[in-house]
Amino acid sequence: MDHTQNAEVADWWRTSICEVKPNSIRMRGYAIEELIGRIGFIDMLWLLVRGDLPTAEQARLLEAAMLGGVDHGPHAPSIAIARMAITCGVSMNTAVAEGVGVLGDIHGGAIEQSMELLRGLVDDAVATDDPAALGREVLERSKVYGGFVPGYGHRFHQRDPRSPRVLELAEEAVRRGDIDGKYVRMAQQVEAAIAAAKGKPIPMNVDAAAGAVYLELGFDPPMGRALLVLSRSLGIVAHAWEQSTRKERIKGPVPKSSRYTYEGPAPRTLSEPT
Ligand SMILES: CC(C)(COP(=O)(O)OP(=O)(O)OC[C@H]1O[C@@H](n2cnc3c(N)ncnc32)[C@H](O)[C@@H]1OP(=O)(O)O)[C@@H](O)C(=O)NCCC(=O)NCCS
Repeated sequence: MDHTQNAEVADWWRTSICEVKPNSIRMRGYAIEELIGRIGFIDMLWLLVRGDLPTAEQARLLEAAMLGGVDHGPHAPSIAIARMAITCGVSMNTAVAEGVGVLGDIHGGAIEQSMELLRGLVDDAVATDDPAALGREVLERSKVYGGFVPGYGHRFHQRDPRSPRVLELAEEAVRRGDIDGKYVRMAQQVEAAIAAAKGKPIPMNVDAAAGAVYLELGFDPPMGRALLVLSRSLGIVAHAWEQSTRKERIKGPVPKSSRYTYEGPAPRTLSEPT
């Protein structure tokens, strides 16, 4: 292979993230042995994704927002699917991949759309002084998401307990000057606006609260979904592991005594005229 070909191959996998040489691993320039034991997992996440170490305040706020999404019990599809998968004889990595795979636009992945919506409202300087008008604008913009405002509403909670706590920490960060607060304020104004436009409360869920924090910290919407995936992976691993320690094999979505409704044609035979 001549020199030109070597350069082409090297360029093929060019990266600014990790440099590996014999006996040396560097993350964004830092030797791994210097980082191990000195920085936290969230610091490492920020370093890899953003290129530099976060401040202590940034790391604390990011960790708090990520913590809220780790688990939502075995009825959450991402958890249930991983638990069912592990009883089918697959390994942990497959069970985790199955669970993570359903963090779509409606379940968990709504965080990405919520960030898109909030960022669009802030970027377009949409007026927030008239909640009903803002509500109409939000509902109009949410048509692309099927008419549901991403980051609001919850199947189980009338008040998602995670959102107020995440917002409380975000407000403290705003008061300290760690973050600007424009996305957090917009998320709160949207909650009031939907209530005004729909005539009933549709409270903010953790996706809008964490999403607003991620925007404040400078993350783009697709990274919001990625952060949710990392966060929920903790719960998925814990549930898949717990499930794997039991004797259950081929766990279905309901106990085997439960039946489903068949609504197709009545029993018939091939000899009958169609
Ligand atoms: C989470 C979600 C699926 C729960 O939906 P659900 O339990 O089926 O909600 P319901 O069907 O009980 O909704 C009741 C009413 O509130 C409305 N509603 C619920 N969430 C809404 C939202 N995000 N935006 C606008 N209206 C909403 C429904 O249209 C319905 O109105 P209607 O009675 O006038 O028809 C839904 O709120 C949603 O899709 N939210 C956006 C996506 C999201 O944030 N997902 C993350 C969840 S943690």
